[in-house]
Amino acid sequence: MTTETLSHAAPFIISQDYAAYTPEQHDVWAELVRRVLPELCKHAAQEYLQGFEIIGLQVDCLPNLAAISARLETRTGWNSTPVSGFLPAPAFFEMLASRRFPTTTWLRSRESLEYTPEPDIFHDVFGHVPMHSHKVFADFLQRYGRVCASVSDAGVLEKLGRLFWYTVEFGVIRQQNETKVYGSGLISSHGECANVIAGHCAIHDFSLSEVLNTPVKVDEFQKVLFAIDGFDQIYEAMYEAEQRVEHGTL
Ligand SMILES: [Fe+2]
Repeated sequence: MTTETLSHAAPFIISQDYAAYTPEQHDVWAELVRRVLPELCKHAAQEYLQGFEIIGLQVDCLPNLAAISARLETRTGWNSTPVSGFLPAPAFFEMLASRRFPTTTWLRSRESLEYTPEPDIFHDVFGHVPMHSHKVFADFLQRYGRVCASVSDAGVLEKLGRLFWYTVEFGVIRQQNETKVYGSGLISSHGECANVIAGHCAIHDFSLSEVLNTPVKVDEFQKVLFAIDGFDQIYEAMYEAEQRVEHGTL
């Protein structure tokens, strides 16, 4: 699908001016990676760490989205598409449904290493994009976008937003008898990840119904998250959610 066919998202799609990044910005990227990579090597899902290699992320310089997309597209057909900022829901869902991940190109400053009110390129690329190289996760995310794009009821969208929150943003998985992180909000935040690893967050078995009925917390550390045993589980949950949407039982 070309960008011209994205009726909602097209106005937000930009190009990444990679040459415009300054040495200071590359240094900030490197600092951000250095802060979290050692703990991620121990506590991130295998699929995330493999994705990191597959898409060719560099630890010492900002990602070039065209180069990352070239690697990703041969693997799963996903593309990391530069956008101008926060997207309205219809544009966001439309892009996911066409296997394009809306990706910001700006980077936080050195003064706000730990927190940004809106996602930046570190959250979007370092946090999200490695998982897009995983075939089941990639299919799950496209299906999520397709289903949400078909929904107009605000209550239904809020519930589907919880599914996104507790998987794509704050997902955890059990591997080797440990809780490992794969959600971008955990991957890209030293504090959020440490909160989970230190055991300050309850970990429930993943249940679609419980996820749909658990409001999200956006301004404090997570108090409960939902562990999957494998990525097939969220793909199947998305299928179940789609059925519930169609039958009006979500
Ligand atoms: Fe995110």
